[in-house]
Amino acid sequence: MQVIESISGLKKELSNYNTNTSIGFIPTMGALHKGHLSLIKQAKKENDFVVVSIFVNPTQFDKQADLDNYPTTLDNDLKLLKKVNCDVAFTPSVKEIYSDNITSKHFDFGGIENEMEGKFRTGHFDGVGTIVNRLFDIVKPNKAYFGEKDFQQLQIIKKLVAIEKKAVKIIGCAIFRENDGLAMSSRNTRLTSEFREAAPFIYKTLKKAKKKFGTKSANKVTKWVEKKFKKHPILELEYFVIANEKNLKTLNEDKSNNKTRDKKRNYRAFIAVFAGEIRLIDNLKL
Ligand code: PAF
Repeated sequence: MQVIESISGLKKELSNYNTNTSIGFIPTMGALHKGHLSLIKQAKKENDFVVVSIFVNPTQFDKQADLDNYPTTLDNDLKLLKKVNCDVAFTPSVKEIYSDNITSKHFDFGGIENEMEGKFRTGHFDGVGTIVNRLFDIVKPNKAYFGEKDFQQLQIIKKLVAIEKKAVKIIGCAIFRENDGLAMSSRNTRLTSEFREAAPFIYKTLKKAKKKFGTKSANKVTKWVEKKFKKHPILELEYFVIANEKNLKTLNEDKSNNKTRDKKRNYRAFIAVFAGEIRLIDNLKL
């Protein structure tokens, strides 16, 4: 496996491969876990050549403390990448990507950027769009892989590809979970043992909410989840939303008002929870 830090070095390496070589790409912010590795394994099966980028992108963080505390484990990441036969690890510096202009471009993603994460993390999706667009320009992948834990991000990237007319196929991959159900995330390593023990409550609640959605309105299920978290001794709910998978609009289902779900649509439950200072997100198809 080659570890390349410069854009010119990566472009030179990629130019050795002819146009018939398919490139699979997994952008990451490092602190790799089994979820990332499953994306890489899938990419290895579906492509001739696999590039993984490790870059903690400053423009997608709305809080400096979150950026400063983001886990970085580069040596271990590189070991893991070697094990899964990654071909190139691209590890640029902030200067290499942004020069002296650490700002993001503004995108119009058709409104999906203003739902859920967009409401609570100002500018987050402009930052994600900026970096992913830049990385796609550099790597020019045939396929790029993203986990469904960040389901809204996945939809944003699909929109980005359409807006920017990029010739890359976006592959969404199922959420990878710990044995107790907690969705794998680089941020999990920062949980204290108390919060780590409590965190599986998030997925357990999602599963119960899914069951309830079979017989109860979205609004009732949402109220039920909010009540559950109010009673929880240490976890703090930021939002729980049942939304249409396509446009991510909240399903405001009030049976007494004749506002009900569209049976032809797919819905998903989305959740963001604070475990102390650590913000965890998860989602479940309903
Ligand atoms: O999901 C992530 O790790 C990041 O948002 C991404 C896609 C690598 C962009 O920085």
